[in-house]
Amino acid sequence: MGEADIAELSRLVEAASHADGHRALGEHKWLDLVQGGRQGFAGFVAREAAGRRRVIGYAQLSRGHDWALEYVVHPDWRAEPQLRTDLVAAALDEVSTQGGGHVHLWVPKPDADDDAVAESTGLQRGRDLYQMRRALPVSEHRSTVKTRAFRPGEDEEAWLDVNNRAFHGHPEQGSWTRRDLAQREAQPWFDPAGFLLYEVGSALAAFCWTKVQEDEHEPGEVGEIYVIAVNPDFQGRGLGKELVLAGLEHLSSLGLTKAMLYVDRDNEEARGLYRALGFHDDHVDRAYTGDVAPATGVATGAGVATVAGTEVETR
Ligand SMILES: CC(C)(COP(=O)(O)OP(=O)(O)OC[C@H]1O[C@@H](n2cnc3c(N)ncnc32)[C@H](O)[C@@H]1OP(=O)(O)O)[C@@H](O)C(=O)NCCC(=O)NCCS
Repeated sequence: MGEADIAELSRLVEAASHADGHRALGEHKWLDLVQGGRQGFAGFVAREAAGRRRVIGYAQLSRGHDWALEYVVHPDWRAEPQLRTDLVAAALDEVSTQGGGHVHLWVPKPDADDDAVAESTGLQRGRDLYQMRRALPVSEHRSTVKTRAFRPGEDEEAWLDVNNRAFHGHPEQGSWTRRDLAQREAQPWFDPAGFLLYEVGSALAAFCWTKVQEDEHEPGEVGEIYVIAVNPDFQGRGLGKELVLAGLEHLSSLGLTKAMLYVDRDNEEARGLYRALGFHDDHVDRAYTGDVAPATGVATGAGVATVAGTEVETR
C-alpha cells in the first residue's frame, strides 16, 4: 500500500473509532499495514462506486499460524451488511487462492448483523474476548513484590521464553518471535519503565507489561495491562495478583485514572483474578472462525470487483 492509501485508510479508521468509542483496527493489524505486513498480508478496500469514491470499508488479512481477518466499516455504511459480506467474501477468496486454511475474523462489539455476515460467508461463532476495566488508583490492595524495568537488548530471550510457555497454544500470544517483540519495542508508546519484570534468583518468574493508551476519546486517562503472565514454574503462589497490582500502581503513578485489559472468556483463572482486583466486564470482541478450502482454479491476484454499488479492491 502507498502513503495515499494509508492516509485514506487512516481517515476511515478515525471515523469508525470516533463512532465506536474505541480504536477500530487492532494494533497488530495496524502495524502490519503501516510497516509492510507479514507473509500472506492482503488489504481489501471498499469505495463508493460513484461520486467522491470515498473509502467506506476495509478488511485486512494476515497469515500467522492461521489467517486473521478484521474489517472496518464507515459509520455511514453500517446499515448495509452487504458491504461487510463483500469484504469478508473477498478476503476468504484470497485465502482460498493462497492455499486455504483456518480463518479467525475478529469483530469488536459484535451485533446481530455481524453474526449474520459470518453465517452467510460460512464462518462460525468462536472465541469471545472481554475488555475489562476498573478505576485507578487502587486503594484496597498494595503490591508487596519488588519489580524492575525491562532492559531492551538484554531481556528479550528470557521474556520470550516465559511468554511463549505461559501462553502455550494461545492463537495470538503463544508463539512470539524476536521480530514480534522488536516491532513493539520500536513503537512510540513503548516504555521499558512500564514493562515490569519480577525475578526469583536469576529466573524470570513473572511480568506485567503496561501500555498507555493513545486513545483520543479518553486522552491521558487509560492505561492497559497489555500482557501479563506468570512463569508456569511459579504459578499459583499469588504472583499474578502481585504483578497486576504492580502494573496498576505504575499506571496510577503516571496520573492515569482508568485501567483496562483484554482477556479470553474461557480464561477463568485470569478473569477470576481480575474480578478479585475490582475489574468489571466492559464489552466483548468476538471471533468467528472457519476452514477455507484451497482454490482449484487459476490464482486471481489483485483486482477490483463491483458489488452492491460499492467496489472492493484487493491490494
Ligand atoms: C493468569 C495468571 C497470570 C495468574 O497468575 P498466578 O500467579 O497463577 O495467580 P495467583 O496465584 O496470583 O492467583 C490469583 C487469583 O487468581 C484467581 N484464580 C486462580 N485460579 C482461579 C480459578 N481456577 N478460577 C477463578 N479464579 C481463579 C483467584 O482470584 C486468585 O486469588 P486468591 O488466591 O486470593 O483466591 C497465570 O495463570 C498465567 O500466567 N496464565 C497464563 C497467561 C495468561 O493467561 N495471562 C492473562 C492473560 S489476560
